[in-house]
Amino acid sequence: MEATKYIWMDGELVEFEKATLHFLTPALHYGVGVFEGIRCYATERGPAVFRLKEHAERLVASAKVLGFRELPYTAAELADAIRLTVSANGFAECYIRPLIYLTHGGWNLTVDTGKASVGIAVWEWKNYLGAEALEKGIRANIASFTRHHPNVMMTKAKITGNYANSVLAKTESVRLGFEEAIMLDPQGYVAECTGENLFLVRNGKVYTSPTAAVLEGITRDSILTLAGDLGYAVVEQPISRDQLYIADEVFVCGTAAECIALCEIDFRTIGAGKMGPVTRAIQQAFHAALRGQHPRSAEWLDYVNAVVPVAGSVSVRENAAA
Ligand SMILES: Cc1ncc(COP(=O)(O)O)c(C=O)c1O
Repeated sequence: MEATKYIWMDGELVEFEKATLHFLTPALHYGVGVFEGIRCYATERGPAVFRLKEHAERLVASAKVLGFRELPYTAAELADAIRLTVSANGFAECYIRPLIYLTHGGWNLTVDTGKASVGIAVWEWKNYLGAEALEKGIRANIASFTRHHPNVMMTKAKITGNYANSVLAKTESVRLGFEEAIMLDPQGYVAECTGENLFLVRNGKVYTSPTAAVLEGITRDSILTLAGDLGYAVVEQPISRDQLYIADEVFVCGTAAECIALCEIDFRTIGAGKMGPVTRAIQQAFHAALRGQHPRSAEWLDYVNAVVPVAGSVSVRENAAA
């Protein structure tokens, strides 16, 4: 496993050890930050970032939802900085974590009295839900914690503070012996998992929850497209907990997890208790798309080597604290 060499911080590549923040960074205390989770894959044409434009745009949209009025970079500049960070670290495949966070003020609980800073880290992160999950699927339960109401913590934004809710649910599930938590929305319908959107398959049709109370997952969108390409009818409609129990197949998807079957929920076997044929077909198409081996790859992959760095962003700081 290769180590991360550089982290991009406010326009400069900083050596890993020097990419540090002060204890009195407001974002750390109040969860005032927005982030993305993105993946870069090895392809025949070199490293390629999956749906980079959409991720960079969602990052800026998350900042807007949180209330930032001014950002130091546009979505296009952030996309360039992401490609630069990947190529500076020399990874063929990696996970990418940009973060916009509140610094220099904001102690009165407003974003307007602080300043937005930006960092981008990349690291090798192969199997978020474990290597075996890809083929065997995982076990999940319904969390005792409810997913956010959109008027409490808005679900369109990847706000760092929102993820305390995910941490509560996932910690509970893992301590109970499951691998992932399914969260219901305040109305009691299936929302999403702690870091994934959720799909079910019944009688050959593919269903997923509407986006009102969940993150508009970029993997979710890709899978809706791929399922349509494969000829499956896809339906976005509210899903109840018992619809999961009697589904033929259930799977989750997200940038970190990719596409993983749920073989058991709340001690009830789902379908045949292993990855079903529809999930397998979608997973295969998705993996092909990620690695440049699918007709959709052309529109979804952004090749890192084609990057033209943002002016002024290539210097490596001698001392990050200076
Ligand atoms: C709560 C939540 N839902 C869904 C997803 C899946 O989104 P994406 O496919 O864009 O990674 C994520 C991950 O980003 C998430 O954190």
